[in-house]
Amino acid sequence: MLGIKALPREEIEAIFSLAKSFQEISTREVKKVPALRGKTLINLFFENSTRTRTSFELAAKRLSADVVNFSASSSSLAKGETIIDTVKNLEAYHPDIFVIRVGSSAALYALTQHTEASIVNAGDGRNEHPTQALLDMFTVSQQLGSCEKLKVLIVGDILHSRVARSNMFGFRKFASQIILCGPPSLVPFDCAEEGIRVEYDLDAAVESADVIIMLRVQQERQTSAFFPSLREYSKNYALTPRRLARARKDALVLHPGPVNWDVEIHSSLKWRVHPLILKQAENGLAVRMAVLFSVGTKKRTL
Ligand code: NCD
Repeated sequence: MLGIKALPREEIEAIFSLAKSFQEISTREVKKVPALRGKTLINLFFENSTRTRTSFELAAKRLSADVVNFSASSSSLAKGETIIDTVKNLEAYHPDIFVIRVGSSAALYALTQHTEASIVNAGDGRNEHPTQALLDMFTVSQQLGSCEKLKVLIVGDILHSRVARSNMFGFRKFASQIILCGPPSLVPFDCAEEGIRVEYDLDAAVESADVIIMLRVQQERQTSAFFPSLREYSKNYALTPRRLARARKDALVLHPGPVNWDVEIHSSLKWRVHPLILKQAENGLAVRMAVLFSVGTKKRTL
């Protein structure tokens, strides 16, 4: 499961129906089924993570897989071992699935050449974050009935966002329209050519949206100044009560987390938007169970 771009719509729908059936497991007294018993999963995170790493770990455990967590800061990477040598060594333990988050797409694709195990992409640089888009789309289809023919507004640091890219690929497979809004320096210039609408004025952009996906400013990926200051950024691109009042009453507001309140979303809107953002996190567990089950039982890349 390397990305949404190459994932057929039917596979996405199959993951959604599996996720739906897995949701119930997390409400049981004994939150475990033997679906992946005897399988070994290694969580390999070369970049920071809270939600993605913990939910992959829990998802694997609820399916009875054995899980090993690896984080770059406490490994031999700190002693100078390369990423590829690290994976080759872990390969010697015959894992079935690697869940990998890494700072560059090239590194992820290189790793696929050094393992027999299935690989699930948990975020490769600014390229893709397929399970985040799946959980976003799953959340939308649970709230609105489907992801079909919607107006999906994505706001903020599009240029550095793997979440934006995966969601663009995903929602477009369901004939939804994508509208991007952010500072001109943070919206890739080739989007318009691909039939994606670009809007620089958030007040106007929110008006027709069914779904509003707010993004975090990826300061760790920004190599130069893309806007004068965070204050200036939030003045123009934060979701405020005044802006949200212009949107449709039933518009969904999503955020992949972590949220920087008052930068991307005004903190006075927490009561309105946080419940759905937490629902995204909850759905992330069921969606990752579905992805691990598909990959772990079919033994192939989705
Ligand atoms: C996202 C990521 O890591 O790309 N977070 C996540 O997985 N929930 C978004 C972000 O860090 O801004």
